[in-house]
Amino acid sequence: MENRIHGDFIPEEVVEEVRLRTDVVEVISDYVSLQRKGKNYWGLCPFHSENTPSFTVNPEKQMFYCFGCNIGGNIFSFVMKKENWSFVESVKHLANKYGVSLPEKELSPREREENRLRRRVEEIHEWAASYFHDLLLRLPEGEPGRTYFAKRGVDLETMKSFRLGYAPERWDGLLGYMQERGVQPHELEEAGLAIERETQGKDGRQYYDRFRNRVLFSILDRRNQPIAFGGRALDDSIPKYLNSPETSFFNKGHNLYGMHRAHQGIREEGFAILVEGYMDVIALQNAGFPNTVASLGTALTRDQAILLRRYTQRVVVLYDSDAAGINAAVRGGEILRDVGLRVDVLTLSGAKDPDEYLRSFGVEDFNKALKGALTYVEFKYRTLVRETPPQNIHEKAELVIKLAPDILKVTSPVEREGYERFLSLELGLTLEAVQREIASQEQKKPKKERVQEYSQQKRVNSLKNRDNIIDAIICKDDTVHPQPTVYLGVYRAERTLLRMLLEDISHLPKIKEKLGESFWKVQTHQQIFNYLDQDGGLPAHSEETVQSRLASLLLEELDISQTERLLDDCIKEVLSTQAKERVEDLQARMAILEKSGDMAGAMALLKEIGERLKRGE
Ligand code: UTP
Ligand code: MN
Repeated sequence: MENRIHGDFIPEEVVEEVRLRTDVVEVISDYVSLQRKGKNYWGLCPFHSENTPSFTVNPEKQMFYCFGCNIGGNIFSFVMKKENWSFVESVKHLANKYGVSLPEKELSPREREENRLRRRVEEIHEWAASYFHDLLLRLPEGEPGRTYFAKRGVDLETMKSFRLGYAPERWDGLLGYMQERGVQPHELEEAGLAIERETQGKDGRQYYDRFRNRVLFSILDRRNQPIAFGGRALDDSIPKYLNSPETSFFNKGHNLYGMHRAHQGIREEGFAILVEGYMDVIALQNAGFPNTVASLGTALTRDQAILLRRYTQRVVVLYDSDAAGINAAVRGGEILRDVGLRVDVLTLSGAKDPDEYLRSFGVEDFNKALKGALTYVEFKYRTLVRETPPQNIHEKAELVIKLAPDILKVTSPVEREGYERFLSLELGLTLEAVQREIASQEQKKPKKERVQEYSQQKRVNSLKNRDNIIDAIICKDDTVHPQPTVYLGVYRAERTLLRMLLEDISHLPKIKEKLGESFWKVQTHQQIFNYLDQDGGLPAHSEETVQSRLASLLLEELDISQTERLLDDCIKEVLSTQAKERVEDLQARMAILEKSGDMAGAMALLKEIGERLKRGE
């Protein structure tokens, strides 16, 4: 195993740990919009340009493979190929992202410094969260915070599970607390928790607490680690919310509020509820909707949509009922749909936001409302009609054109027709007219943007074609290093043999006994065989061709009911081809002798050929 590159080295256990902690679907989802079809996920291949998905990810085997360009492999090969990194760099990146610690000596000085800083900022946030939390829960100075949350019906349990806090009305509360723990004011400033005064004091730079007299919402990541804070004023002061600034440590667009609980909740419920406010998350999660999250005081970003897509395929957008909330839902829904999520929109009436709605009407009513969430297209239609009701045919056509891009994004023909029917009924137009109008918009779109329709049938056809090609031309395995031609029968037998070995290594002795160790005609197959023979296991890292071939082999279905027969057939195929090749070889040599006039030599060879053929070789 080649873990050493340019003197860099990653121990085997670390590679294994990263492999265990990561999920190939989750990692690839950051780059490719994947859709589940049966056991596998499908998407458009990121390594070649295509309109129909032939890129597949198998969560069980933790492998990916593209039927179009035949590139495949494991999580490491994917990151290497996509980011153009070395194996070591890729492992480091994944280790970092998934919290696997690398031995210090394996890091470059710059990486060591970054790690140190990150851990320091984490530590500071941990202390800060405890400071604010203790104030809220028990210290006399926390009384205003307690009063505020009591007024809003937040109980002790909730304060604890969301690590809510209170920042006192002082300029140096946190600064003092941190100084006792050896945290320098400038460190607090770098962490986003203190602000530098414009005028310098006589002892140099001066700082003050960022959060004062506010209740605090700790923003927790998946590990429950506080990474930022949102502070709400106790009254109508401006700004209503003051948030941690963006730092290299905390990026608002990459996180969602409530995710520390919701990552579990979303998987369990099968969908996510996206709201606007911190209080909405708390109220809904407490009311039995643990799948609720909010973006962090900014418009929803593509990264947040991608984050959600790791956990689900469906999001219910539930923004405030005011005009701003409706506009944000239109935009947010589009961002979510663009990464391949199914979006429904719920607008609550009778309350300004979900938190208020729950308090006024209760969970039961909320549940009923949730069931009535509109599809994104219908929601957008209703919004547009409310803004400008179409008065005549011309305006109706305009409306259809406005919605066409949203309908064209739909990949299912059934769903698309559903929307077209909906529009035809609502607007009193014929279905054909609506369909023609929408189709005409498709043509106008630049080709690149055109909807990439998933068609099972097409994929099956293209697979068939691939096999035909192999049938017709006799397979050449490797285009980079030209190799001798390999007969299709042998090529297939070799693949099957490897597939069986991958399933059950106990076939190895028999294969070796009958065929030896170096009979493989396809070089990549020989390499894989060597791995299995020598290490008994698969490499985390190896040549790209090997990784790709492994992925394609592992994704192949194997009929295990008849393994022994299959094994014997494959061995027979290899042996008989070897015999056939020996005869061909003799024939070729004979032709050379004939040409050179050595008739006696040629006759001897002819005799040998005859013997072999008689023996049925
Ligand atoms: P809202 O004004 O709806 O606040 O803003 P809210 O969460 O419902 O708060 P309450 O119920 O009035 O106490 C929604 C979200 O927008 C961000 C916050 O994340 C807030 O939760 N926001 C709002 C800011 O970041 N800054 C602001 O000044 C206002
Ligand atoms: Mn609100």
